[in-house]
Amino acid sequence: MTEYYSTITGFFGNSNPEKLLKEFGSPLYVYNEKILRQKCRDMKNLVEYKNFVPNYSIKANSNLSLIKIVKEEGLRADAMSAGEIQLLLHAGFEPEELFFVPNNVSESELKYAVDNGVLVSVDSLSQLELLGKINTGGKAAVRFNPGVGAGHHEKVVTAGKKTKFGVNIDCVDQVKEIAGKYNMKICGVNQHIGSLFMEGDSYIEGVKSLLSVAEQFEDIDFVDMGGGFGIPYNKQEGQKPLDLASFKEKLTQVLEQWTDKYGKKILFKTEPGRYIVAESGVILGNVYTTKANYGNKYVGTDIGFNVLARPVMYDSHHDIEVYRNGKPLNEAETEEVTVVGNICESGDIIAKNRKLPVIKEGDILGIMDAGAYGFAMSSNYNMRLRPAEVLIKEDGEPTLIRRRDTFEDLIANFNI
Ligand code: LLP
Repeated sequence: MTEYYSTITGFFGNSNPEKLLKEFGSPLYVYNEKILRQKCRDMKNLVEYKNFVPNYSIKANSNLSLIKIVKEEGLRADAMSAGEIQLLLHAGFEPEELFFVPNNVSESELKYAVDNGVLVSVDSLSQLELLGKINTGGKAAVRFNPGVGAGHHEKVVTAGKKTKFGVNIDCVDQVKEIAGKYNMKICGVNQHIGSLFMEGDSYIEGVKSLLSVAEQFEDIDFVDMGGGFGIPYNKQEGQKPLDLASFKEKLTQVLEQWTDKYGKKILFKTEPGRYIVAESGVILGNVYTTKANYGNKYVGTDIGFNVLARPVMYDSHHDIEVYRNGKPLNEAETEEVTVVGNICESGDIIAKNRKLPVIKEGDILGIMDAGAYGFAMSSNYNMRLRPAEVLIKEDGEPTLIRRRDTFEDLIANFNI
């Protein structure tokens, strides 16, 4: 085992995993404010270009306290649904700081955005028609599909010839025609080619392709290059983070050259979700069982796939730390185990055949880098309560930022 990430980063502040579970219950999402703020700053410094702003993509984690911190750091935000718009307005964002990037939505959802003054990006020609009827004489953005995508798993590749997203890049004339029909200004273009890249070149290629679409419009105000910035999920085996310094140099050059050619210093945006929150979050859970079934050693926890779906959904790797008596277990002795949750499906596996320190019942596990698409994708499957969420504030003190579900929450919507 390599060093413990949580110890190096001081992740748990003045507390420790044992105290946290005792106070707030298990399983538990824990976030670290310092790390969150640092990630926001990294993204704000992504390019040297002056007219640039990242939009946090709140689908990755929509906890209100975290969103407010992201806002304080000066980011704007993306929404995927009317619910996300409502939450962002509630968090204090101005409508003009928001960008609605939905796909396949109803007229009433589009109308909700327009009525609230939020700019919409449409994902198809027919949605552009629909928006034209609602927002005649107004503004619209268009999400293009450059024909190539990227991502850590085929389920999260969001551009290319085999995905549902975006308008084909050879449809610019049709876009202009529909916009003209409704006297709408196309004020921006956007794309999102997929989630999680670890080297910047594919992203920059995608940006170049989007810019070649952008320049076919006479008067756009912004280009939104999308999200997808990866984080190293496998630090225990030495995976390195994105090289932001070299990325910055290359991307800045592309943007400067292009705006010189376009003749206008337009606004550039990105849509990071994972990068902002993934490393700011850990999920803690108890080990209740260790057993050997036909030679396979299982470690049974309360972290089922209702709590963290990523390993089951995408075979995703998350580093695991083991704690005993409040401290990381720095045992030299390791063994190969399969770490499982408490859901009644045999696919409920957090880590398969993973080499970990020898774990005993009563130990605590920390599933690292769980801040993005962790709680956001959790559910009440098996009538389990979604966990509480706690924030380790900058002064090191833990504070509850969402309470655990209750039985009353589970039955609240039944019509008896
Ligand atoms: N913009 C759009 C239009 C998106 O669809 C997404 C993510 C993002 C931005 C943010 O992407 P990010 O920077 O977080 O990669 N549940 C999956 C990831 C799904 C991503 C969906 N779209 C996972 O856990 O890996």
